Order: sequence, then C-alpha cells, then structure tokens
Amino acid sequence: MTTEKWYPFVKLPLSAEQFRQLPQHPSYEYEYVDGEAWLTARPKTYHALLDLEAREPAASVRGFGREEITVRPLDRDEWPYLRPLFAGAFQSVPPFSLITDDERLVAANQCLEKTRTGGDGPLISDACFVARCKSDEGEQRLGAIIITLMQDGDLESCDDLTWTEQAAVDAIAKGWGRPHLTWIFTDYWNARHGVGTALLDHAVNALLKIDYTDLASTFLLGNESSTLWHWRNGFRLMSNPGSPRAIERGITAKESEESVESS
Ligand SMILES: CC(C)(COP(=O)(O)OP(=O)(O)OC[C@H]1O[C@@H](n2cnc3c(N)ncnc32)[C@H](O)[C@@H]1OP(=O)(O)O)[C@@H](O)C(=O)NCCC(=O)NCCS
Repeated sequence: MTTEKWYPFVKLPLSAEQFRQLPQHPSYEYEYVDGEAWLTARPKTYHALLDLEAREPAASVRGFGREEITVRPLDRDEWPYLRPLFAGAFQSVPPFSLITDDERLVAANQCLEKTRTGGDGPLISDACFVARCKSDEGEQRLGAIIITLMQDGDLESCDDLTWTEQAAVDAIAKGWGRPHLTWIFTDYWNARHGVGTALLDHAVNALLKIDYTDLASTFLLGNESSTLWHWRNGFRLMSNPGSPRAIERGITAKESEESVESS
C-alpha cells in the first residue's frame, strides 16, 4: 500500500522556542529553517508476522450501541460501502488525518480500488471479510479485513516483496507467496469492541483452510492503535532491515559466505 503521496509538506512560521516545544510525530522529520518549521514526511513502516493457528471467534460481538455484529465474506457488492467506512476509520491516522474530509474520501477510494484490482497483489477473496450490523437505516458496515498475496521472502531484509511482474493467475491455488494483511479498519465510533479481532479470527481460519501457515502485516510507526492491536493479537515484530544490528548481521553473514567461498 502506498499512501506517501497523501503526506503534505508543512511549513510553519515559528519562533525557535515554539519549534522546540512542537510535539513531533514519527512520520515526519522536523527542521528549523529561517524562522520556519519544515515538516517533511518520512513514514517508517515495520513488518509483523502471525503464525496461523485455528481461532475461536467470540460468540457475540456487540458495538458501541450494543447491537449484534456479524462477520460475512467480503462480496463484490460490499466494496462501495467500504469507502466512507475507510475514510472514517483512518480519520486520526496519518496521512489521512492531515487532509480534508473530501480528500480523505478520494484517498479511501484510490487505496481500496488499488487493492480491489490487484495493485497490492492478488486479492485472497476467501480471507476477506466485512463486519455488519442492523440499524434503523438498514444494514450498516462496521469494519473490514482485506488480505492480499505478497511475494514470499525475508521480511527482515530490504527486499521489495511487492510483485514486480503480475503474479501468476493460479498463485493462490498453488499456495505461492505469503498472505499480507493489507487493510484492517473498523468504524471510528465502534473501535475497541472486538470487531477488528473478530475479522482477523475469520481471516485466519479461512487462510488455514487454503493451507497458508502465516500472515504478514505492515504497520506505520506512530499508529498506536494498529501497533497495539497487532501485538494484542499475537503478531511478532520483525527486525527492521535498517537497524544497526540487522546491518551488522548482514555484514557477518556476507563475510562468512566469502570465507567459505575462498576456502
Ligand atoms: C486498529 C483497528 C483495526 C483495531 O480494531 P478494533 O476493533 O478497534 O480492535 P479490537 O477491539 O479488536 O481490539 C482491541 C485491542 O486492540 C488494541 N487497541 C486498538 N485500538 C486501541 C487504542 N486506540 N488504544 C489502545 N489500544 C488499542 C488494544 O490492545 C485493544 O485491547 P483492549 O481493548 O483489551 O485494551 C481499529 O482501531 C482501526 O480501524 N484503526 C484505524 C485504521 C488502522 O489504523 N488500521 C490498521 C492499519 S491497516
């Protein structure tokens, strides 16, 4: 998922003292230039991995208004309902929190269309779900989980695991690649009621049925609700390829390879 284009570059006229007091978000780099704060987007993402084991979805999930929530497969007809849900869910998550309501709807549409049409890798439709409940206005959507197939590979390396060429049409049937949690989002007013976890429970069980054994995910440093949710649900944080220890490991591995070759 590429959301970088939605990060605005921000310039603020500030005194040096005000700049020092400015709260900082990890997605941005902060510089003080000629009486102005310059905020440049540098979003940092981390990978996490969940080893799949059968899960028992909660017998009953109830939203903020105590309504019963059900989890259903994400059928083709459901996609149009996801756009406002996505825009609302991400309203306090950068970069979507930094743009206007109208722009957020456009961004939601672009992100979802890209995913729906295979731009984030083939959609694993069997493992995509939507949470719904009945309301006075009819059926309401309260969350969705969208799983795509990424290239298999080392999540702790700098390798780009997006598909460089179109993935084979039968990649999922052949069990190639690795499932990736591309989007999970729940209705803003119904967050922390177990909806995200219920969606994950269904996705995990569905992936096991088609013989996948793990699920990768990527989260943005500074998105606490996402980070905590992944942690709470058993995802393991992968080492960041840019960390000094990871670089050290890479150098050691290369040196030992070279010494084997030369002996
Ligand atoms: C992240 C998200 C999907 C979680 O779904 P949810 O239905 O709110 O989460 P659940 O009720 O299943 O799980 C709750 C657990 O997640 C963690 N959590 C989620 N949001 C949290 C928050 N705002 N503050 C603290 N912990 C939070 C906690 O560990 C919590 O457990 P607890 O209630 O026992 O403390 C939802 O908050 C959301 O849509 N966020 C915005 C979109 C987003 O960032 N998506 C992830 C990247 S694609």
